[in-house]
Amino acid sequence: SSVTIPPPACMLRPLEVPLRYLFGPGPSNVPPRILAAGSRPIIGHLHPEMYEIMNDIKKGIQYAFQTENNMTIAMSGSGHAAMECAVFNTVEPGESVLIAINGIWGERVAEIAERMGANVQRMVKTPGGYFTNTEIEQAIKKHKPVLFFLTHGESSAGLCHPVDGIGDICRKHDCLFLVDTVASLGAAPIFMDKQNIDILYSGSQKALNAPPGTAPISFNDRACHKMFNRKTKPVSYLFDMTHLSNYWGCDGKPARVYHHTGPVSGFFALRESLAILAERGLEESWKKHKEVAAYLYRGLEDLGLKLFDLRLPSVTTIAIPEGYDWREMLTYIMKHHHMEMTGGLGPSIGMVMRIGLMGYNCEKTNADMALHALADALKNCKKSKP
Ligand code: GLV
Repeated sequence: SSVTIPPPACMLRPLEVPLRYLFGPGPSNVPPRILAAGSRPIIGHLHPEMYEIMNDIKKGIQYAFQTENNMTIAMSGSGHAAMECAVFNTVEPGESVLIAINGIWGERVAEIAERMGANVQRMVKTPGGYFTNTEIEQAIKKHKPVLFFLTHGESSAGLCHPVDGIGDICRKHDCLFLVDTVASLGAAPIFMDKQNIDILYSGSQKALNAPPGTAPISFNDRACHKMFNRKTKPVSYLFDMTHLSNYWGCDGKPARVYHHTGPVSGFFALRESLAILAERGLEESWKKHKEVAAYLYRGLEDLGLKLFDLRLPSVTTIAIPEGYDWREMLTYIMKHHHMEMTGGLGPSIGMVMRIGLMGYNCEKTNADMALHALADALKNCKKSKP
C-alpha cells in the first residue's frame, strides 16, 4: 500500500525562526545559558538524575517564592496549567469561590472555576483598579468562599497589587488565599510564607527567562489539608496533586511512580533559570527591575505618554496616545525595529499598549531601544481620522 498524502512541502524546508527583541509581556528573550541547558541530552523522566534535577527545581522555587512549603513543584504546562491545578485541586463543585477581577487573569480564573462547577462570585474593577483590604474582607464575609483569588502582577493592566494583610483576612474567615505571580515573580517582592499566601503560582517565561511551558506552584499546609481531604476527585487527571505530589517526591512515599512524562528539556531550562535567580539574589533582581522600570517611566513621560498607578515593574502599560491606531504602531515597531510590544489583553484591549522588560531583558539599554522605537512610531504612524 502506498501513501496518498505526500510529504508537505513546508516540512522539506528548514525551520526558520527570526531573532526578535521580546519587549512585550512575555515570553521574554531567553539567555544563551538557559537555551544551552534546554539543549542538553534528554534523560528519562523517571531516572534518578532527573529526580535530583526536580529536587533542585523545588528548592529554587522555594527560594523564589520565599516559602518552606514541602508541596512545591513545577507544572508541565504554562501558567494556565498552574492556574487550573490550583483551582481544580482546592475547590469542589458547588463550593463558593471569590475572584478579584481587574484585568484578564481574574476573568480567566473565574471561567475555570465555573467550568468545574464552583459557585463563582466576582469582585470587579476596571483594568488598573485595585481592591482595598476592607472591600476584600466585606466580600469574603458576604460570600463565605473556600478560596479567594488575587493577581499580584496583572500583566494586562500593568498593575502590581498590594498583598499585605489579605492572607490574614482569609485565615480569619477560613478561606484559602490564591495568588497569581506569573508576571511579577522575580521582578516585584512576594513572600509566600510571611504574607500567609496559601497557594502561589508563576510561569517560566517572564522574569525567569526560561522558555514557555513550565510553571512553579506551591501549596502550604492549609491548602494541602483542603485538597487532600476532598469528597470528589479533581476533574483533571493530569493536574491531580495526589499524583503530582508523588511525581515530585513530595508525598513522603519511598517510590515515585509513573504519572505522566514531564517536559524534560523544559525542566533543565527552568532549573537553570532558577539557578541564575539564586546566584543573582532576589533583592538584586527586584532592585534592578525597579530601577529600569523607573528609567523607562521617565522616558515614556518625556515622550508625552500617560502611565497608570501601582505599576508592575516587569510590564508597563501606557495609555494609547490620542489619535493613534495602536495596531498600526505595534506593526510599525515590529517591522522597523524587530521588536515585540503588545496591545492590551482581555478588558484592557484598545485601552493600553504594553512594554515588558523582564529578567535578562531588564536593562536600561533595552529601555532606550524601546523608547527609540516608540518615538519613531509616534513620528511615523499617521494619526487616524477623528
Ligand atoms: C500574557 O501573559 C500577557 O500578559 O500578555
